[in-house]
Amino acid sequence: MAPPLLLLWLLLAFSPSPASGFSKVRGVNLGGWLVVERWIKPSLFDGIPNGDMLDGTQVQFWSVSLQKYVSADNGGGGNVTVDRSVASSWETFKLWRISDGEFQFRAFGGQFLTLNGEGSLLSATADSPSVNETFYLERNNTRIHLKFSTGSYLQATSDNQLRGNYQGEPGWEDNDATFEMAIVSNALHGDYQLANGYGNSKAKDVLMNHRSTFIAEEDFAFLSQHDINTVRIPVGWWIAHDPDPPAPFIGGSLLALDRAFLWAQAYDIKCIIDLHAAPGSQNGMEHSASRDGSVDWPLPEYISQTLDVIDFLSARYGNHPSLLGIELLNEPSAASVPLDVLISYYTRGYQVVRNYSSTAYVIICQRIGNADPMELFKANIGDSNVVVDLHYYNLFDTFFSNMSVADNIQFIYESREPQLQALNSANGPLTFIGEWVNELNSTSASQLQYQMFGTAQLEVYGAASFGWSYWTLKNDEVHWDFEWNIRNKYLILGSSSKAYPARFSLITLTFGAVLLFFFETV
Ligand SMILES: *[C@@H]1O[C@H](CO)[C@@H](O)[C@H](O)[C@H]1NC(C)=O
Ligand SMILES: *[C@@H]1O[C@H](CO)[C@@H](O)[C@H](O)[C@H]1NC(C)=O
Ligand SMILES: *[C@@H]1O[C@H](CO)[C@@H](O)[C@H](O)[C@H]1NC(C)=O
Ligand SMILES: *[C@@H]1O[C@H](CO)[C@@H](O)[C@H](O)[C@H]1NC(C)=O
Ligand SMILES: *[C@@H]1O[C@H](CO)[C@@H](O)[C@H](O)[C@H]1NC(C)=O
Ligand SMILES: *[C@@H]1O[C@H](CO)[C@@H](O)[C@H](O)[C@H]1NC(C)=O
Repeated sequence: MAPPLLLLWLLLAFSPSPASGFSKVRGVNLGGWLVVERWIKPSLFDGIPNGDMLDGTQVQFWSVSLQKYVSADNGGGGNVTVDRSVASSWETFKLWRISDGEFQFRAFGGQFLTLNGEGSLLSATADSPSVNETFYLERNNTRIHLKFSTGSYLQATSDNQLRGNYQGEPGWEDNDATFEMAIVSNALHGDYQLANGYGNSKAKDVLMNHRSTFIAEEDFAFLSQHDINTVRIPVGWWIAHDPDPPAPFIGGSLLALDRAFLWAQAYDIKCIIDLHAAPGSQNGMEHSASRDGSVDWPLPEYISQTLDVIDFLSARYGNHPSLLGIELLNEPSAASVPLDVLISYYTRGYQVVRNYSSTAYVIICQRIGNADPMELFKANIGDSNVVVDLHYYNLFDTFFSNMSVADNIQFIYESREPQLQALNSANGPLTFIGEWVNELNSTSASQLQYQMFGTAQLEVYGAASFGWSYWTLKNDEVHWDFEWNIRNKYLILGSSSKAYPARFSLITLTFGAVLLFFFETV
């Protein structure tokens, strides 16, 4: 073969693919389906009574008689005081919801407000909540009363404490048993909040209906028509306990996942099962089904339960022809999950999957927050078919707040692309952009600008050695909605036959032509 043709052949033959017989992942996430996130489909939460007081809601109390905030000094561990003029973290309590009128209150340090019987002082000293930590909350707009199980109310005392000895009905005028309640954070709306908010029987109706309508066979038809070859399916740990998971979680997600595998098979689409919500919560966010924002996953008992979930999923789907991979854990938090704990879990999780399948990809997710993307490439998780998942959003960081569209596109080429190239050539696991979206923190971008931003992302993420998947298939926020993007031509997908879209092909062709010209003229 003549030198120029050899070179051209080398260039064109360079077609990276994760495995023989399967081109790279061009995927879409089925977000908000088997793991609920309210912002994806807000109407799911519409029928919850006292719906602004779900688990994890953060509240502050201000005594109308003393005109001071209720405080758990040092974040807890002692008696509660009513003596602060300004409210901050010690004055903020997280709700644990028992019913629409009964609550427990968790102080900053994690302990619960407790009354050691009628007439005693309120303290923030209970490690786990039970009847002495449960209060009836009577509400009149922003004013509240807290009634103990014995029937007496908490009242502020002249020495700035809270005592459970107010007898009779306090009334809503200014008095020692009346407090102003401010809701200072209402950030969590996941499976825990939904199920516990509605209560078991209503939650069952809502979730059964959601799971059987939100994603349907037509969606798989749509995806396959648009050359999508993979779905990444977020699941919660309770799926392993179907049909009767621990309260408040609702069974039925396993049958829905079974249906997804059937549809996937019918439309020649592969599935990645993504453990999005792990026991104890790995990131404190609603999509990890956190109850109140705490991150307890690193405790050995939760890690061990998580491995059981991976074992369950691997046993059930390990030999299914539509299984592409199992993602061991979505978005562990860098602030709360130590790297060595995570690597140890990933290594054991890899072995569990391998016990059932020698070929399924084992996908490990990069920590979110302040973490070096290279950290997992150096860890030796397993011998074969290991993939590192990175989530690339030009959002969720003030860094992107005021960027123009052009700056956003430049960031894709000048920051994401070299990072991905470095990771691709790290001689470690394959790279996967498992979440990205055609959205930016700008209210005024035009359709053409969205197309350009989307094309830049597709081009750069198309170079990930395992592939990419869009977040997410359906969303009330239309720019996050894959189907809306395609139908409205805000995202122009290239054809899957090209490993790289426009720019790479252009470079290849131009470079090839120059070489040919060079060798033919000398
Ligand atoms: C709380 O108040 C009780 C009753 O006054 C007192 O015996 C106890 O020492 C106080 N606890 C703390 C930690 O100050
Ligand atoms: C609640 O407080 C009462 C009165 O002090 C006590 O007898 C009881 O054991 C406590 N209950 C629990 C579950 O701790
Ligand atoms: C709420 O408080 C106002 C007085 O501030 C009172 O007139 C009204 O009846 C109260 N509503 C309920 C439901 O108790
Ligand atoms: C693999 O399966 C065997 C037999 O079921 C079991 O004894 C072993 O603990 C499993 N290994 C892992 C890592 O799960
Ligand atoms: C967009 O930027 C604003 C600040 O300009 C910030 O408050 C907001 O959280 C950002 N939104 C996202 C989704 O990153
Ligand atoms: C973004 O721009 C606004 C208005 O110019 C400014 O107030 C804000 O501080 C900027 N935010 C960041 C993160 O630079």
